Amino acid sequence: MTPLLELSEVTAGYGSAPVVEDITLAVEPGQVCALVGANGAGKSTLLGTISGLRHPSRGRITFDGADLGHAAPETVVRRGLVHVAEGRRIFRGLTVRENLDLGLWRSGLGKPEQRDRLDRVLGLFPFLRARLSAQAEVLSGGEQQMLVIGQALMREPRMLLLDEPSLGLAPVMVDRVFDTIEVLRAEGLSLLLVEQVVERALSIADRGFVMQNGRIVAEGPGPDLLRGPGLRQAYLGAFAGGSPSGDPADPTEARQ
Ligand SMILES: Nc1ncnc2c1ncn2[C@@H]1O[C@H](COP(=O)(O)OP(=O)(O)O)[C@@H](O)[C@H]1O
Ligand SMILES: [Mg+2]
Repeated sequence: MTPLLELSEVTAGYGSAPVVEDITLAVEPGQVCALVGANGAGKSTLLGTISGLRHPSRGRITFDGADLGHAAPETVVRRGLVHVAEGRRIFRGLTVRENLDLGLWRSGLGKPEQRDRLDRVLGLFPFLRARLSAQAEVLSGGEQQMLVIGQALMREPRMLLLDEPSLGLAPVMVDRVFDTIEVLRAEGLSLLLVEQVVERALSIADRGFVMQNGRIVAEGPGPDLLRGPGLRQAYLGAFAGGSPSGDPADPTEARQ
């Protein structure tokens, strides 16, 4: 199958120093892929490079066959690739409805189509329907995460980049985030998911990528990666050699 998103030997960073180097990965249509790695590994930098917030200094990024390398963020969105950044950036003082409508910004859609999109998103997140005129700030953290995903879906993307959607959420809300991911998968969306809930993310991932110090050090079907040594090593890279017993704590548990 032809990949929907393809990165080939991509290097990028801030200023002259590379933060991510030589990244080659592919996401096929309909796949859920997980990108994991310790804090500071470069995961968010890579997502921002894909979505056009910064540009690669080397390598090539294609989406649906088109070169994205130096495309502006709005262009990337228009092509169907939407980045849901870390930190649940909702507009707290606006209503739920207004936050969703921001997803239609510059869409050029007429009112009936806008209504259709809203209905589709509310179909996925029915709890938002009763809250449409509530201020977004009254939603719980988990509900706010659904709202930012809902806003992204208002653009009818083909692929979402999700950066740590479960960060800081209560366990029951983490479950809802993962339920949502399954719903999006069933809708045929492709996802590149960055998560600190590593075990959970890899167990559902068609393909996983483990990042360490800006490079991909292991990849494979998510569940296989969970069983392999690459994951543990990537998290323990800063303590090369592991614990004296040679049996360091499992990072997939420590990170939950
Ligand atoms: N805006 C920025 N300017 C300069 N350096 C940054 C910026 N954002 C992140 N970095 C650096 O890039 C590296 C990778 O960060 P990041 O991509 O946020 O990692 P992760 O998402 O895996 O935790 C870190 O060393 C971080 O300090
Ligand atoms: Mg990050």
